[in-house]
Amino acid sequence: MEELTHFNSQGRSRMVDVSDKPSTIREATAYGRVLVNEKTFALIESGGMKKGDVLAAAQIAGILGAKRTPDIVPMCHPIALSGVDLSFSLNRKQLAVEIWGSVKCTGSTGVEMEALSAVSAAALTVYDMCKAVQRDIVIEQICLLRKSGGHSGDFERGAEPTKQPIDTHSLRTPYTAAVFTISSKGFQGLRQDTSGPAVAQLLEADGWTVVRREILPDNQEAIQQALLQSSDGMDVGLIVTTGGTGFSPQDVTPEATKAVIEREVPGIPEVMRAESMRITPRGCLSRETAGIRGRTLIINTPGSEKAARECLGAALPALRHGLDILRGLGGECGGRHSGEDQYG
Ligand code: MTE
Repeated sequence: MEELTHFNSQGRSRMVDVSDKPSTIREATAYGRVLVNEKTFALIESGGMKKGDVLAAAQIAGILGAKRTPDIVPMCHPIALSGVDLSFSLNRKQLAVEIWGSVKCTGSTGVEMEALSAVSAAALTVYDMCKAVQRDIVIEQICLLRKSGGHSGDFERGAEPTKQPIDTHSLRTPYTAAVFTISSKGFQGLRQDTSGPAVAQLLEADGWTVVRREILPDNQEAIQQALLQSSDGMDVGLIVTTGGTGFSPQDVTPEATKAVIEREVPGIPEVMRAESMRITPRGCLSRETAGIRGRTLIINTPGSEKAARECLGAALPALRHGLDILRGLGGECGGRHSGEDQYG
């Protein structure tokens, strides 16, 4: 004891001596949440994440986290825990994995650090299980909800943090995309769709998260409906279509696009056709169009995988900057792109 006091008088840390405190039943519950995007949320929900069942892994991690608290928080006493319980809720509205961690012991110190540690380890594990599909996951609001059993009295947080309004919009990546392959044959399963996956791959490589990919028939009504669902309904940043831009009577993708856009963006098809003409004299045969609806940019590309790659590749370097401006994210037009990549 002498030595501990001595260390402390020099301003060093010490583990508080609790020998004189009575042993009572102590309980604590902590809360935290992990914000993800639509795609990650769907994968967690369906159990489709490559690393395995996200919540099952987080549950085990939470229990371990509680038990190992004194290993990582230096002044925490090693405590013989009598119970650790983790529970989760998938909050679709806020695209959040909500976590509650409750810890119990009979002893001389509180267990709030154990509860906070359980939630933190569970949240980190959710992050780890999902980081391959999303890089901008946010862990937030880790806090103590309640504790009881100590001589200093019980604690109960007034309003549960879940009830506080939070602006998930600003935390979500704006670079979400939907990809639609327009092909009646593809829709009927008579032709393999390679342009949709190629477009999705190009977008993902450029930092976009593809949250929706579908094959649609060459039907103007069906195309318009999908465009409206993804823009007004899902608020995706970018919609890329492939196919249905040529001269055949079934080719109605540009007509469907023009029916839903509010402002045309002629520069995008201009650059795509200019690039196409460098490659093939038939490049001028695509009637591809592009435009803005609300907060969403919609772009047509031709239907062959090669043409879709060539056309999207020509426009892609400008798209994230365009979306930054569209969404008021402060993109400056000096050739600098979102503070990351340098174009021109
Ligand atoms: N653009 C590029 N870059 N590369 C191509 O091979 N093919 C053209 C044109 N644009 C092509 C291209 C051809 S042959 C046609 S008919 C039109 O796109 C329309 O294609 P779609 O009907 O599949 O949309």
